[in-house]
Amino acid sequence: MTSEIIITKFYKKYGESGESPRVFFSPGRVNLIGEHTDYNGGYVFPCALSYGTYMAARITDTKTIKFASLNFDFTIEIPLSELNNKVKNEWVNYPLGVFDEFKKTGVEPDHGIELLFSGDIPNGAGLSSSASIETVTGFFINKVFGKNKLNLVELALLCQRAENKFIGVNCGIMDQFAVSVGKKDHAIFLDCDTLNYELVPIKLDGLKLIISNTNKKRQLADSKYNERRSECEQAVKYLNKFKKIKNLGKLSLNEFNELSARIPDEVIRKRALHVVSEDQRCVEAVDALKNGDMMRFGVLMNESHNSLKDDYEVTGTELDTLVEEARNIKGVLGSRMTGAGFGGCTVSLVKEESVDIFIKNVGKKYEQRTGLKPDFYVADVGNGVKEIQ
Ligand code: GLA
Repeated sequence: MTSEIIITKFYKKYGESGESPRVFFSPGRVNLIGEHTDYNGGYVFPCALSYGTYMAARITDTKTIKFASLNFDFTIEIPLSELNNKVKNEWVNYPLGVFDEFKKTGVEPDHGIELLFSGDIPNGAGLSSSASIETVTGFFINKVFGKNKLNLVELALLCQRAENKFIGVNCGIMDQFAVSVGKKDHAIFLDCDTLNYELVPIKLDGLKLIISNTNKKRQLADSKYNERRSECEQAVKYLNKFKKIKNLGKLSLNEFNELSARIPDEVIRKRALHVVSEDQRCVEAVDALKNGDMMRFGVLMNESHNSLKDDYEVTGTELDTLVEEARNIKGVLGSRMTGAGFGGCTVSLVKEESVDIFIKNVGKKYEQRTGLKPDFYVADVGNGVKEIQ
């Protein structure tokens, strides 16, 4: 997709009269390590992708907003006064939630708008297609109606609130943050408690990051996600009876091991162990990358997946099969699920010369074992949200 293509499609949809539309872009993201740690005040290490969501927008003299997408058939025209009503179609609720949150900050459109979205990241695959739609909408509203009142971090927080309140998924800050502040060829080492972050160059000499999509339709992912989140809150409650802690992200593995017997429920204990150990792995992985120790990075990716599988229980047959088959390929340093889990994608660190064989063999074996055809993308780390000139 280029801005010329989306503008052509825009004219086809809405006609050529009026000003020419402005085009905005927000990427998707892949998380390298630090999974299910963000809502526990821990560390994450995602990067923005070069693919994402394009949005063309034109101000009109009407009092309605028209929403259309090249990815979904559903279109709708909503009066400005009714923007806070949810509609019975998922994708439109993402931009609507963002309009709603902006309204709460006193920023709302005073004119009608025609909007056309077009995404080139697979939807619901754990690559943050929803954060990407939210953020591209938010960036536009902030720039055109909000006079750039919010900086990128504040924009990410607003889009997270839209997802929490309007969509009802209690997600953490990772996705909206990554797609807002991402930088080409850098990953973002983010402390989700303080929101301090560091852009770390990804030097992949001779290696590639391959994203493999299970193409498994995610079922009940949102409710299971919210369930994990409350299990972590429960763990903090148990531990707080013995030691005051703000969240699991602030515990070292040693401290946790000393305290863990105080958690009476075995499932809750396992969930907490994942979070605390994953946080430590994330810090170590960033160090490994800075030191050019990619073997160590790969080992930590593997350990991360194992912990998400055994202790956090968010993987499932499809993700586990992709990871197992990836690890059977010579030249794979590490492989893990990425994002929320319950289907979606894996990310693997692969020697350049093994990429073709990886795609061929993992694809074949995965299809034989699950009956599903996977998709593969060689990740290209891109910039955060922007207007395309
Ligand atoms: C989803 C959420 C994020 C994060 C990941 C798991 O992508 O939106 O906030 O919790 O899952 O790491």
